[in-house]
Amino acid sequence: MKKNLDELMARLNQRIDAGGDPAGMLQALCETMQQELAGYDWVGFYLVDPQSPRELILGPYAGAPTDHTRIAFGEGICGQAADSGETFVIDDVSKQSNYLSCGINVKSEIVVPVFEGDRLVGELDIDSHTPAAFGEEDRRLCEAVAALLGPLCREAAAIQ
Ligand code: SME
Repeated sequence: MKKNLDELMARLNQRIDAGGDPAGMLQALCETMQQELAGYDWVGFYLVDPQSPRELILGPYAGAPTDHTRIAFGEGICGQAADSGETFVIDDVSKQSNYLSCGINVKSEIVVPVFEGDRLVGELDIDSHTPAAFGEEDRRLCEAVAALLGPLCREAAAIQ
């Protein structure tokens, strides 16, 4: 890796403290991570649908458009992470049977659930064109970022 992660986290914290439009803040975070972190080719959020709590809806993202705008719990990597509440790190997506492809270039993926208290409110999903792009440092970074975003994801889902 990568870039100066402490500095990225400090900027994120500053933005959250400053407040503002939740979807806009998530969008800005996606763009920052996608632009500044090597191998983070698609960075986005799936948000738990307040109207249908066993479904995820595509939220803010940076990268190529995806057909997967709505994902049921249990479906694909995102749906499995939603069901289990645990981070999924996939080194080689071609080896996954329960996987929703977002393009032939995608080789590896990390999905980190976002909680507000005990309640799942969304997920941070990152795709890479590089195989096995996400190591322990990436997992720690993404989990640290996700831990800050519960209220923002819940608020962004409510106004989608
Ligand atoms: N690959 C994900 C779907 C979302 S895209 O990566 C944007 C999955 O299998 O759930």
